[in-house]
Amino acid sequence: MSKVDIRDLRDWLDDVEKLGEVTHITQEVDPHLEMGALTYLNGKNAEQTTLLFENPKGHQGDVRVLFNPIGNSMNRLSLAMRTQPGKTPIELVQYIKEKFDQQEKIKPISIDPKDAPIFDNVWMGDDIDMHYFPTPTHWVRDGGPYIGTADVIITQDPETGRINLGTYRQMIEGKNRVGYYSSPGKDTLLDREKWWAMGKPCPVVSVYGVDPLLFICAATGFPKQESEYDAAGGLQGSPIETVPGKITGLPIPARAELVIEGYSYPDGGQEEGPFGEFTGYYGRPGLEQTPSIEVKAIYFRNQPIMTAALMADHPSCEQNLFLSVMRGARVWRDLEACGIPGVQGVWSVPSAAGGFGMTVVSLKQMYAGHAQQAAAIAAQCAGGAYYSKFIYVVDEDIDPSDLEQVIWAASTRCRVSEDIDILRNTWSTYLDPSKNPNEERPFGSKALIYACKEFKNIKKFSRRTALTTNQYEKALNRWEELGMPGKVPTLKVFDNPEEELDI
Ligand SMILES: Cc1cc2nc3c(=O)[nH]c(=O)nc-3n(C[C@H](O)[C@H](O)[C@H](O)COP(=O)(O)O)c2cc1C
Repeated sequence: MSKVDIRDLRDWLDDVEKLGEVTHITQEVDPHLEMGALTYLNGKNAEQTTLLFENPKGHQGDVRVLFNPIGNSMNRLSLAMRTQPGKTPIELVQYIKEKFDQQEKIKPISIDPKDAPIFDNVWMGDDIDMHYFPTPTHWVRDGGPYIGTADVIITQDPETGRINLGTYRQMIEGKNRVGYYSSPGKDTLLDREKWWAMGKPCPVVSVYGVDPLLFICAATGFPKQESEYDAAGGLQGSPIETVPGKITGLPIPARAELVIEGYSYPDGGQEEGPFGEFTGYYGRPGLEQTPSIEVKAIYFRNQPIMTAALMADHPSCEQNLFLSVMRGARVWRDLEACGIPGVQGVWSVPSAAGGFGMTVVSLKQMYAGHAQQAAAIAAQCAGGAYYSKFIYVVDEDIDPSDLEQVIWAASTRCRVSEDIDILRNTWSTYLDPSKNPNEERPFGSKALIYACKEFKNIKKFSRRTALTTNQYEKALNRWEELGMPGKVPTLKVFDNPEEELDI
């Protein structure tokens, strides 16, 4: 499929518009709770689109707010990944995984600041006022307005120079102060601690109106030494254009909509939260001391579009679909990088707490212990370790993105007393509501579930019932004549005795 020529949020929005997947809301809507409510309800609707709020209540300028850019749309996700719509979920996972296989990483380029739309407006000193922007408060118990949800935070490892892009929730705490919460183990947190250990403030850039490609890459777990800028360039097929920040020199996406720049100090932080999270619960109970960014500059395009992501139960949570695809591709790639053969597909289930909670690996078993090895690696590799709780291995005849098939496989192939292993004290987060009391966090545990045929007896395993190719074709040819309802379902598994397939 041909590459899609998109360079920023506006290009992407133009293409999404052509698909009829943008709802322009020109009437006044309150950023305080009303935008969140409409987005939540929209997400539960099969006809959901992205929502562009063009007239935020109480806002004096011309800033617009775009909620849930991707939502549950494979079309919008495909365009963000710079590929034409029309792929199945697993086909899109495979497409991205192959991009990762090609090791295609394209470093960002720095352009002339005169050509960078992000510098249309530059606010420094007394002009700085974070309250100017129509920042949504999503949930009734949120600690304040969260300007950072569909965002990108840019930091640098002071030892190696690697530039990190990560997505972190950010609450407005004052005219020139924004809190940013990072779970233990994330790169933004590790970077800032390195700066502080050197006795220096941590330089930070934060992007609040962002190309979905950068947002998705920032929210995806890449190896710690890699820059998401390079991965995004690889997916785009051309370098991301940047300009050096006027304060920190960090590379800012030149075509972004709204950016702040500043420093984070080891001052103990401020009280931040609660925040309605990807789990569909408020994060860690109570207020937390969270580090902040002291804002030294604000940049924005004319008529900027802020991006916002509602975190919620499924299917209203913005990250669910795109993380399922990106995590699937990352884990598949990580399995192959560890030398695991026979992987047919990997899927992280969107409804499993924002795509984090459950991963399914479809595997053609080739040797004793193969499924167990694949499950352990899928559970602990860089792309899949965070939060994940349930790792299923299914055989190659099961589509991992079809939960009905996965549950059937688990119910017919898994010997529960022997086919579940547990990993304890694994990487998780303070945001997992199941770990109580609070002090037990942020450790998690993982179940490795072998929902596949026992390898020792794989040749003796009961044969599954399936149609022959002839039966299928005959039914296909007579479908209309017989007045059968709907279309003939597509099948992938057949039983042609002359071919002696292992099914
Ligand atoms: C909308 C959204 C909000 C997120 N907020 C946070 C957050 O507040 N804290 C956090 O640790 N991770 C958060 N994440 C997950 C991280 O972005 C993700 O783990 C990412 O891989 C971190 O990248 P890094 O380790 O390269 O910085 C969020 C993800 C999304 C999609």
